[in-house]
Amino acid sequence: MNVLVTGGAGYIGSHICVELIEAGHNVVVIDDFSNSKPEVLDNIKKITGKEVKFYEFNVLDEAKTEQVFIENKLDSVIHCAAFKAVGESVQKPIEYYTNNLMSTLVVAKMMKKYGVNNIVFSSSATVYGDPEVVPLTEDCKLGETTNPYGSTKAMMERILTDVQHACPQMSVTLLRYFNPIGAHESGLLGEDPKGIPNNLMPYIMKVATGELECLGIFGDDYDTPDGTGVRDYIHVVDLAKGHVLAIEKYADPGVHICNLGTGKGYSVLEIVHSFERVNGIKINYVIKPRRPGDIAICYADPSRAKRELGWVAEKNIDDMCRDTWNFAKKQMEKKA
Ligand code: UFG
Repeated sequence: MNVLVTGGAGYIGSHICVELIEAGHNVVVIDDFSNSKPEVLDNIKKITGKEVKFYEFNVLDEAKTEQVFIENKLDSVIHCAAFKAVGESVQKPIEYYTNNLMSTLVVAKMMKKYGVNNIVFSSSATVYGDPEVVPLTEDCKLGETTNPYGSTKAMMERILTDVQHACPQMSVTLLRYFNPIGAHESGLLGEDPKGIPNNLMPYIMKVATGELECLGIFGDDYDTPDGTGVRDYIHVVDLAKGHVLAIEKYADPGVHICNLGTGKGYSVLEIVHSFERVNGIKINYVIKPRRPGDIAICYADPSRAKRELGWVAEKNIDDMCRDTWNFAKKQMEKKA
């Protein structure tokens, strides 16, 4: 298949490109490098031996996006391009709503115009809000989102669902990611956010490299076994493989919704201790107050993914910690 990956140079998009190529698909990428670097494309080639066809611009640019649809006989789109920092979205709601919603509308419009009927959308477990029960199944009620980023994900799901209803020949797949972490085992692809990371694993990584002194753990008084927040961490390579199966298997017209998580929850302290044990590095931490908007526990029921896609997460927490550190070491060597 010829697959367009928007945001294909990003953390998740780049891993998706590798898995698509390794499964025999042709990949076209649009990315504006707003949160990624050109070297990612070389690294995809180093890993797979193949090039992606690359276009550098923001998908908001309708004329340029249209040109990509004209130049390539696309079969499917995997739409990852979006702003994704929760805290920043609270400061910059206009930018978040404009970028995330408008780019989705541009993609949907071009798909309709050029008869591309298959889209897989990067959604998030954030659409469930604060869960009433765990594990979360796809039938759980959608919850209140607590920040503009989360609201854009819920709205993008809504937009694509409405588009499918108006274009019944389309297959729209909403993949709800839990907490993607880890890196490609080659150490060539991973997540290296600019500045101070918002998310747990990139923060731990920067404490391990010495770039940051100490991890702040946001709250140890949640109703969880050790008091720290519990999440369903999923290896980014497993997540990427889920996308390949989704474009291949959810070809029937309709709206398909599928969680991608492992089904297991780990606390912040368990992640810190696993990272220390697997990599033999001490992570300094201090307990801080709860972070506004955080929930206590969130993990998936991934049984639909197993039943409908034949997908199960193959990598465990130790793999996620080891691959993150392997990537971090490669980054340090480069900077040295
Ligand atoms: N945490 C810390 N210290 C940090 C960062 C995080 O203790 O410096 C804790 C959080 O309080 C939480 C856990 O680590 O308990 C995970 O936090 P992350 O920021 O890594 O992830 P979240 O679960 O808050 O959010 C993630 C994605 C969102 C997505 C959401 C879906 O970042 O994009 O999962 O559930 F919407």
